[in-house]
Order: sequence, then C-alpha cells, then structure tokens
Amino acid sequence: MALLEVKHMTHYFGGLRAVHDYNLAIEAGQIRGLIGPNGAGKSTIFNLITGVYTPTEGEITLNGVNLIGREQHEIASMGIGRTFQNLRLWRHMTVLEHINMANYSHITYGLIGAFFGTPARYKQEAEIEEKSHRLLKLVGADKFADQKVTNLPYGILRRIEMARALAVEPKILFLDEPTAGMNPEELKEMMSIIRHVHAELGLAIFLIEHRMKFVMELCERIQTLVFGEVIAEGTPEEIQNNPLVIEAYLGKDLDT
Ligand SMILES: Nc1ncnc2c1ncn2[C@@H]1O[C@H](COP(=O)(O)OP(=O)(O)OP(=O)(O)O)[C@@H](O)[C@H]1O
Ligand SMILES: [Mg+2]
Repeated sequence: MALLEVKHMTHYFGGLRAVHDYNLAIEAGQIRGLIGPNGAGKSTIFNLITGVYTPTEGEITLNGVNLIGREQHEIASMGIGRTFQNLRLWRHMTVLEHINMANYSHITYGLIGAFFGTPARYKQEAEIEEKSHRLLKLVGADKFADQKVTNLPYGILRRIEMARALAVEPKILFLDEPTAGMNPEELKEMMSIIRHVHAELGLAIFLIEHRMKFVMELCERIQTLVFGEVIAEGTPEEIQNNPLVIEAYLGKDLDT
C-alpha cells in the first residue's frame, strides 16, 4: 500500500472544473514532483489533499486512512506537513517564535500549567525551544532564530516556512513552489537543503515547481498537469521527452 493515495479526485469551483480525475500514489521516502502551466490546478491539488477544500469527488487516504472531511490541523498531525505558495509569516514575530508556535500543537501541560507555570510547563517549553532550534539547523536558518522575519531575505523565509512545516513531524512534506522568487544562489542552496532534509528525516516529499532543472534533478517521478488533468507521468527523462509535455511548455526552455 502506498503512503499517500489519491483516486479519481475531481474538484469544481462553481462552474470551473479545476481538477479532473486526478490519481496519485506516493511511497514512503519518495521525492515526487508536480509541474504544469499557471492555473493548471497544482496548488488546488495540494489544497484538496491537505483539507483546505473538500473534493467534489474522489478518495484520499494516508496509510489507508481516509482524509476527506478532516480539518487541516488534523491532516497535518496525521502526517502531512506543507508550505504555501505565498509566504504566511507574521511580521512582528521572530523566526524562533514561528517555529515554537508550530510546535505548541503538541503541548500537554494544561490550563493550570499555563497560568501558574508548573515544572511540567517549563520542561515542555525547554523541549520545544530545543526542537525548534533543531529544525532551524536542519534548514540552515538557526543563526537567524532571534531575528524578526521582516529583516530577512526571501530565500531564508522559504526555509523558515519549511522548518515550520516539519514541526508536525510529517511522513510527507508538500512544498508549493519552494524556489519562487529566489535568485540562482538561493536556488542552489534550496536544492541542497531539500536533499539534506530528505536524507536526515527519511520522509517523502511532494513538490510543485516551475523551475524545470530543479524538478528534474530532485524528483524520481513527475506528473504534468494541464487544465486540471495529468497529461504525463514518469521519470524526469520520460517527462522531458514527452511530446505532450513539450507542447504544453511550447516556447519555454525546459533546461532552466
Ligand atoms: N478558491 C478558488 N475559487 C475559485 N477558483 C479558484 C480558487 N482557487 C483556484 N481557483 C482557480 O482554479 C484554477 C487552478 O488554480 P491553481 O491555483 O490550483 O493553479 P496552479 O497550477 O497552482 O497555478 P500557479 O502555477 O499560477 O500557482 C485556476 O483557474 C484558478 O483561478
Ligand atoms: Mg499554484
């Protein structure tokens, strides 16, 4: 059985069919990619699997357990961590505070501890800080822990979002355009961070990307989505040589 399985998923926004008969099976530890032109439905697929929207039709299971109808936080704690296409960071909070906040979902010291500061609370708070630093180190952002996010470059903010997504200790990590807005130097760094996180944590990764070279180098299998439908699925080599994919990207350089 695959770790994550999606069968015959279709979704309508009013009269617009954004996703049609979508199927996916991701095994534990795989790195998978989803590509396609703007508006193809890529982010919608992420949003459907992670509970932002409920699909009009279809099945979604994680380790055989149904995900449809569950809240976003529930799906996250079941094992799917994600980042968003647009950064969702709070201007006045420090980097560490962002990661701590994500970690607080595991807190159990209770209401009395929250008011009076019991030893259990102090111990858990220390553990959470320690875990946050560990996650920030993993994405190479620990040295920015005490800075406010407003002061940091885009490439670093994307890493912080990734660290935050890892706080739920996911079995699978969804990255929606992890290199958006990055310069070539930041892009290279992101590639090695994803590889490092994958090697250290052994999780599966499912990423949406527009930068072909990045996807082709990282992913073992890739789906190409056009107008809500998968027109091709295969290895990077198969995808690069697929006439339908080449046609969908007509005029765009598949080497960049
Ligand atoms: N909440 C929504 N309500 C109505 N229509 C939506 C909504 N979200 C997305 N859409 C529409 O669904 C289609 C797919 O959008 P989606 O954001 O999934 O595309 P995408 O492949 O992620 O594109 P991009 O590469 O630009 O991020 C588009 O036509 C979009 O306008
Ligand atoms: Mg998108």
